[in-house]
Amino acid sequence: MKVLVTGGAGYIGSHTCIELLDHGHEVIVIDNLSNSHPRSLERVQSITQKELFFYEKDLLDKEALNQIFQTHAIDAVIHFAGYKAVGESVEQPLMYYQNNIQSTLILCETMQRYGVHHLVFSSSATVYGMDTKSPIPENAPLSATNPYGRTKLFIEEILRDWALTLPESSITLLRYFNPVGAHSSGLIGEDPQGIPNNLMPYVTQVASGRREILSVFGNDYDTLDGTGVRDYIHVVDLALGHVKALEHSFKSTGCDAYNLGTGNGTSVLELVKAFEQATGQNVPYQITDRRPGDVATCFANPNKAKLELSWEATRDIVEMCKDSWNWQSKHPMGYQTS
Ligand code: NAD
Ligand code: UD1
Repeated sequence: MKVLVTGGAGYIGSHTCIELLDHGHEVIVIDNLSNSHPRSLERVQSITQKELFFYEKDLLDKEALNQIFQTHAIDAVIHFAGYKAVGESVEQPLMYYQNNIQSTLILCETMQRYGVHHLVFSSSATVYGMDTKSPIPENAPLSATNPYGRTKLFIEEILRDWALTLPESSITLLRYFNPVGAHSSGLIGEDPQGIPNNLMPYVTQVASGRREILSVFGNDYDTLDGTGVRDYIHVVDLALGHVKALEHSFKSTGCDAYNLGTGNGTSVLELVKAFEQATGQNVPYQITDRRPGDVATCFANPNKAKLELSWEATRDIVEMCKDSWNWQSKHPMGYQTS
């Protein structure tokens, strides 16, 4: 199958390109490299020993997208491209609505023009309301608390409306929980720009000495040790979920949402301890105030994906920590380390 991967040079996209190529698919990537490095795709090709097509283009560039659809007889699209920083989205909401929503509209229009009706979209567990009880099923109430989350929520609604107009379409909304880890080769991984917002990259940067100390945002939540509980999922499991979703989309029609999580909750302190045990590295930490907007607990009910997509996560928290560290220790400055 010929698969267009938007945002394929990014963290989750590059891992998914590997699994697509390994499953015999042809991969065409469009990415403007606004949050990624071309080395990721060079390494995808060296890991798989297979070639992919790469277009360094913006998804907002209608003509470029048109040209790609004209050149390749695309069968399906996996749509990762977008901005993802919550804090930045609060400061620059218009930039988020423009980049995430407008680009999706352009993508859908182009797909419709070329008769491509299979789409897998990167949504997020952030679409579940703040008060949702875990484990969270897909039919839990939806709401968002920041512009980034609203772009995911709005795009889900847009895609649901679009699917209604095209009886042959198959659109899969994948709601990721907390992606961490890296490919076992240690050649590709997460490469956040500036100070990491998320827990695992912060932990690995403290362990490598790039940052001094981890701030644990609150230890007075109603959880086993007072720190926030999340559903960390290995990025390779997540990537494999996309391959399963893609294959399933050719056996189904309509628009449907699936959680991609493990179903297990891990607290901040449990993750720190697991990381120290898995890697032998020390992670100094201090307890600080809660981060505004955080919930105490958030983990998935992953049963629907298991039942309908025949997918489930198999990599545990130890493997997630080891692989995150393998990438970080080999590439202390991310892709800038050659
Ligand atoms: P990432 O930033 O590493 O990857 C996104 C890629 O899209 C980048 O390579 C960036 O250069 C590209 N891009 C952005 N805007 C573009 C545009 N207009 N045209 C072309 N390319 C563009 O992020 P990621 O962690 O790999 O996330 C992928 C998707 O999954 C995003 O949509 C994100 O919102 C979603 N998601 C991520 C997480 C997470 O924790 N990483 C959780 C839930 C959902
Ligand atoms: C964050 C985003 C969410 C996004 C998700 C996955 C916010 C408010 N939410 O959620 O929209 O979908 O990432 O990308 O940014 N923690 C610390 N110290 C740190 C960093 C985090 O204690 O330096 C704690 C947090 O309080 C939380 C847990 O670690 O309890 C996980 O945090 P994080 O990795 O940012 O993920 P989410 O909070 O789930």
